[in-house]
Amino acid sequence: MTDLRTRYMGIELANPIIVGASNLVENLDDLREIEQAGAAAIVYKSLFEEQIQLEAWEMEDGLEEYENRSAEAASLFPDIKHAGPKEHIHKLRKTVEALKIPVFASLNCVYDVSWLDYAEALSDTGVAGLELNFYATPKSFTESGALTEERQVKIVKEIKQRVEIPVAVKLSPYYSNPLNLIKRMDEAGADALVLFNRLFQPEIDTDREQHQFPWNLSHPGDNRLALRFAGLLHGNLKASVAANTGIFTGDDVAQMLLAGADTVQVVSTLYKHKISYLSRMIADLTQWMQAKGYAKIDDFRGKLSQKNSKDPFAYKRAQYVDILMKSSSILETYRLH
Ligand SMILES: Cc1cc2nc3c(=O)[nH]c(=O)nc-3n(C[C@H](O)[C@H](O)[C@H](O)COP(=O)(O)O)c2cc1C
Repeated sequence: MTDLRTRYMGIELANPIIVGASNLVENLDDLREIEQAGAAAIVYKSLFEEQIQLEAWEMEDGLEEYENRSAEAASLFPDIKHAGPKEHIHKLRKTVEALKIPVFASLNCVYDVSWLDYAEALSDTGVAGLELNFYATPKSFTESGALTEERQVKIVKEIKQRVEIPVAVKLSPYYSNPLNLIKRMDEAGADALVLFNRLFQPEIDTDREQHQFPWNLSHPGDNRLALRFAGLLHGNLKASVAANTGIFTGDDVAQMLLAGADTVQVVSTLYKHKISYLSRMIADLTQWMQAKGYAKIDDFRGKLSQKNSKDPFAYKRAQYVDILMKSSSILETYRLH
């Protein structure tokens, strides 16, 4: 029997595939289908600062700031008026009650007080863990990267003191040295790192000369950045690692485990191939393990990590230089004339 069980921030999961935070979790029937299809756990969509603030502003009638921010937030988040923090928490609690698999909450705040208060509020819903979604796009020309990082590490430390459930940190790849920040998050007590979030980027409609914000699903091949970091991190952290972004197939999952990840999170593949595709991913992973003679995941996890790889340059600059030096093989693949 092939054993797909894995541990993720101290919790035993039936297999390594977690459905990441998204709008897939809005409907209980979809959630039951996700569970049925074999997801090991789900991350409920994030509670955002905008939801928290909008509810606060709504209480202060006629406030000018509310008028401005409300219009902006409502256009970015069309459903936000009906999804304040109370409703979010209520729905999350119902989801925890309805599912047998672990449910993780997710939080994305701006102000320290919101991070702390709502980390506690979400942890009181019965969730198995909490994911801190540090989704931040640079806006300041003066604030240093070091200050942004310090603030985020401090939030992790403070939340760890307030809640008893395990805490994961979901990061974007846009730090000058993600390895250093990840290590500091690990030392601050993060129980898992989710690498990496995919930031929504704007597009411009040239006919209407207007910005537009399309759903930004990943593409096959987008998994390589997370693969590199899973390989670099394996054996270097106390925290678990969940690889995220661009994981579409059972083979992609096997790649992440070989690099050293503990779990993966998937979203785009379910939007593109439907929820039922999850069971295919699990079947393909199982089949691959059987073909290779692996009885359990620890038989091969991290086999191709930086620490264990036989190729000392696999994750290094030398590999990059080597690829660029082989210009003739690129010309053979992509004939220019
Ligand atoms: C429609 C949609 C909604 C999302 N909502 C959230 C969210 O609420 N919180 C969060 O941390 N990530 C959110 N994400 C990001 C995903 O959890 C995931 O990190 C990203 O899509 C990359 O994984 P993928 O390549 O499997 O899609 C969302 C993604 C999509 C496509």
